[in-house]
Amino acid sequence: MPRPIEALIHPDALAHNLAQARARAPDARVWAVVKADAYGHGIERAFAGLRGADGFALLDLAEAERLRALDWRGPILLLEGVFEPRDLELCSRLNLWHAVHCEQQIDWLARHKTHAPHRVFLKMNSGMNRLGFTPAAFRQAWARLNALPQVDEISLMTHFSDADSPTGIAHQVAAFQAATQDLPGERSLSNSAAVLRHMGPGALDNPVSSDWVRAGILCYGSAPDFPAHDAAHWQLQPAMTLRSKIIGLQQLQPGDTVGYGSSFTADAPLRIGVVACGYADGYPRLCPTGTPVLVDGVRCRTVGRVSMDMLTVDLTPVPAAGIGSEVTLWGRGPGGAVLPIDEPAAAAGTIGYELMCALARRVPVVVA
Ligand SMILES: Cc1ncc(COP(=O)(O)O)c(C=O)c1O
Repeated sequence: MPRPIEALIHPDALAHNLAQARARAPDARVWAVVKADAYGHGIERAFAGLRGADGFALLDLAEAERLRALDWRGPILLLEGVFEPRDLELCSRLNLWHAVHCEQQIDWLARHKTHAPHRVFLKMNSGMNRLGFTPAAFRQAWARLNALPQVDEISLMTHFSDADSPTGIAHQVAAFQAATQDLPGERSLSNSAAVLRHMGPGALDNPVSSDWVRAGILCYGSAPDFPAHDAAHWQLQPAMTLRSKIIGLQQLQPGDTVGYGSSFTADAPLRIGVVACGYADGYPRLCPTGTPVLVDGVRCRTVGRVSMDMLTVDLTPVPAAGIGSEVTLWGRGPGGAVLPIDEPAAAAGTIGYELMCALARRVPVVVA
C-alpha cells in the first residue's frame, strides 16, 4: 500500500476559473499561461480544463511540443521568445508565436530561413526591468522587425510588476501607450492580477484594455493579491488539492513537546494527529504552528515543525478524527470545505504559485 498522500487536479475548476477571466475581459482573447508544466498541475492534466482558451502561453519549447502532441492547433506563445537561433526552426515547424525582447533575437530572425513568416510579440520593458526593449528603443526594434521578410505580424506586449498591489499599473500603462500609440498591431498587457483588479466590472482603478490577456495564476484558483483579496472574493476555485491521511495519534500532557526541535509545547492535554505529508512532498517546512489544514473537512491547525514525511495537527476541533481521517493540506476538502492554497503559502511567507509549482515528484497525481 503506497503512502496515503495524493494530489488531485480539478478540470472543472480550471474551466470555471478561465470563465472568470473571460467575464472580466469579455472583449479580449485569453492566453492560458501554462509555463512550469501548467504551474505544477501538468500540461496534459490541465489541458482538458483549459482547452477553451484562445491560446496557450509558456516558455519551454518542449512544453510547446507537448501541447501540439495533444493536438492543440491554436496559438501557442513563447513568453520569453527563443533562447538560441535553432529554436526558430521549431517555431516554424510547430507554428509557435514568440516574444522578441532583445536585439539578438531580431538578429537571429534576420538570419532564419523559413517559408512561413512568424508572428511575433515585441516586448516592452515598461518598468519591470526584466525582459524587453525600453520605451526609447521600442520603435526602432519595431521598425527592424517590420522590415524582415521572416516576420508576418507584430503584436505589442508588456508585463506589469505591481498589478497585485496598490502601486498598480498606471505608470507602466502610460509608458507603454506613449511609446506605441501610433504603432499598429494587437496589444497584450494583463496578467491575472491586472485582469482581476483592473479590467471588467468593478475594476479597482486604472482600467486597462488589452486584445490578449495572459491569465496564469487565476486559472489555478489562487488569488494573486492575497491577502488583500482571497480566491472566494474573485470567485476562483482551487484547481489542485493536496490531501493525505492521519497515520498516527498521540495524547499529549501539559509540558509535552512535538517533533524536531520541540518547537511546540502543550499547555493542556491535547490530542494530535500525525499526517503523512512533509516537506519532501512539497509542503513548506517553513509553515509554523497554527498553519490551517482541514481534517475530515474541519479547520484545524498544525503544531510543531514540518518534517520530511510527516506533520502534526491539533485535533481539538474534530474529536471523532482517527487513523485514516482525511487531511486536506490545500484545495477541496470533504463536504464542500475549501482551504485555499494561499493560506498555507502565506503562513510559510510565500505565494500560492510557489507551492503548486513545488509539488514533489513522489506525490501521485490524479485527475479528479
Ligand atoms: C510575461 C508573463 N505574462 C503573464 C504571466 C502570468 O502571470 P500570472 O500567473 O500572475 O497571471 C507571467 C507569469 O509570470 C509572465 O511572465
